[in-house]
Amino acid sequence: MKILVVGGAGYIGSHMVKQLSLAGNDVITLDNLSYGYRDAVKYGKFIEGDLGDNAVLDAIFKSADIDAVMHFAGFIQVGESVIKPSMYYHNNVVNTLTLLDAMLRHDIKNFIFSSTAAIFGEPDYTPIDEKHQKQPINPYGHSKLMIEQVLDDYDKAYGLRSTCLRYFNAAGADPDGELGERHIPETHLIPLILQAASGRRDDIKVFGDDYETDDGSCVRDYIHINDLCQAHSLALDSMIKNNKSARFNLGNGKGFSVKQVIDVVKDVSGKNFKVSIEPRRDGDPAVLVADATLAKKELNWQPEFAELKDIVKTAWDWEVNFLCQ
Ligand code: UFG
Repeated sequence: MKILVVGGAGYIGSHMVKQLSLAGNDVITLDNLSYGYRDAVKYGKFIEGDLGDNAVLDAIFKSADIDAVMHFAGFIQVGESVIKPSMYYHNNVVNTLTLLDAMLRHDIKNFIFSSTAAIFGEPDYTPIDEKHQKQPINPYGHSKLMIEQVLDDYDKAYGLRSTCLRYFNAAGADPDGELGERHIPETHLIPLILQAASGRRDDIKVFGDDYETDDGSCVRDYIHINDLCQAHSLALDSMIKNNKSARFNLGNGKGFSVKQVIDVVKDVSGKNFKVSIEPRRDGDPAVLVADATLAKKELNWQPEFAELKDIVKTAWDWEVNFLCQ
């Protein structure tokens, strides 16, 4: 297939581009490099440009016979979205609409969308399945849910088929060591703990130890980046075969507390480092764990990295062999 990966220079997008290319697909990456890295696009064709730019989109869709579009170019920081909602609604909603309308102009009807557990808001129950009510508690979650709603309507009105994949906590790195996570600023737990282990930062701060969880720290569901990408590939095949839109929650179904993750990193890295307890971070639900039964059943998806230590090991190798060099 010929696939356009928007945001293919970012963390998840770059792993996706690699996986799709190695599977024999013809991949084009479109990325404006605002957060991505040119050297993360190691496969296929790269075009520097903005997903909100109609001229760029028309040129790509006119010159290449694209079968499907995967969209990873969303802004992802919950805290920033609260302070700068305009930025989030413009990029995540307006620019995505521009992309979708360009697809329609060129009769491209297959779309895979990076959604998020943040669309569910504060959970009523865990693990969270697809039926759970959707009440985001921040602009980031709202922006992703708005697009899910747009996609429902575009399916009905225009026959644009979409699969929305709600990620829980994407983690880990390419086991070949070619790619990994490089956010600036880094706000995610695992890379920050790894920086403490490698000595690139002084300590790791635990945001809250008074939650109603076993050890008081927040519980999350960490899923390896390759497993996440595998689900995208399966979702695309299934959507095209069945000519049907779908929504799936993606996680391992197992929760780990912040303190447990710190212990796993200490174990995998063999390093000790300072851990400090800080106040809660705004907007953090105590527990977020996915029920991914539907994806396993409908897509025949089976995560390979079921153990957190194996996920952390790939990220530790990336920290030591790439980021620390
Ligand atoms: N945490 C710390 N210390 C840190 C960083 C994080 O204790 O230095 C804690 C957070 O408070 C949270 C957990 O570690 O309890 C995980 O935090 P992350 O920032 O790594 O991930 P989130 O669960 O907040 O966010 C992830 C995605 C978002 C998505 C969200 C869905 O990164 O894009 O899940 O709720 F929106």
